[in-house]
Amino acid sequence: MSPLLAAQIQQFHAALASVTSEEALYELQVAYLGKKGSVTALKGEMGKLPPAERKDFGAAWNRTRDEIEAALERHRDVLKARARDLDLARVVDLSMPPLRPPVGSLHPLTQTRRRLSETFIRLGFDVAVGPHVEGEQFNFDDLNIGKDHPARDMADTFFVEPAAIRGLAPGDVQELVLRTHTSPVQIRTMRTRKPPIRIIAPGTTFRRDDDATHSPMFHQIEGLYIDEGVSLADLKATLMAFTEDFFGQRLAVRFRPSFFPFVEPGAEFDLGCPFCSGRGCNLCKHTGYIEIGGCGMVHPGVLEHCGIDSERYTGWAFGFGIDRMTMMLHQIPHLRLMFEGDTRFLEQFPC
Ligand code: DAH
Repeated sequence: MSPLLAAQIQQFHAALASVTSEEALYELQVAYLGKKGSVTALKGEMGKLPPAERKDFGAAWNRTRDEIEAALERHRDVLKARARDLDLARVVDLSMPPLRPPVGSLHPLTQTRRRLSETFIRLGFDVAVGPHVEGEQFNFDDLNIGKDHPARDMADTFFVEPAAIRGLAPGDVQELVLRTHTSPVQIRTMRTRKPPIRIIAPGTTFRRDDDATHSPMFHQIEGLYIDEGVSLADLKATLMAFTEDFFGQRLAVRFRPSFFPFVEPGAEFDLGCPFCSGRGCNLCKHTGYIEIGGCGMVHPGVLEHCGIDSERYTGWAFGFGIDRMTMMLHQIPHLRLMFEGDTRFLEQFPC
């Protein structure tokens, strides 16, 4: 081997040993084997040799180049592997707990609605449903809410263009509204089922109200019990059993006489405050009671509108809002929070 080539190889290996990056490796490659590289330059030496030595020199030069190329290649592999290990060490820490994908949960309102339904189902009630777009007859007329009743005012009710409803049978044209309460589900149920009837109807309701404490979309739950000999005492007993199951404690049930066209007598009902057991706190405004909703004995006229013999059957109904109840249960300060879909709020209610 020519001493010149041998010196190149030695120098090269010495330089290679301290190369720690792929850029430096490339520079080293250029310095030896590039167009102006030192090994490349030695190729020119060949012409200066006596012809008899040229062949050997050429072969030695080729071996030198091959050896350098192979060493560069091995070193590149080593550097790549080292970089990968470094990356892995940085990115993958096998001792870290795994990242969990964010898990959604039911809206607090849905949770309340389900809990309410479960409670009444345990008490022997079925769950009934009705459409959000409702005929005026079921939402108003059959519930004794006459044409001149203020609840039918444009200011309270969302009217729907009848033409906008697909599949409306011709000849069955009714003024349509977004149901303003869940009470039309009473009508639908009584028209299609025979007593004994024992249903609840939770659902979305709509009114043209939109301020800090009212949302144009809100939620109610309706209760209805029709059979022979049903009395107000049954209603009170049912509400008491409901509070015990739902709030986990016996609460007072108080009726205050009130008027709703579809019940007679009618009442508003309050429950003893579940937070202070009636002693008085901020949540019950120091009255010891929380106003919940309306109720009463189903008006005989309503029974007759639905083809139920009011001489034979009696029944009671109640209805209350579940948005406020949800806010109270979780001490949610603003109604808006319930409908903004902000995950920072929603994720506080895992289920
Ligand atoms: N539908 C009434 C409302 O939205 C609430 C209500 C009152 C429902 C008395 C009833 C009832 O079933 O008997 O204000």
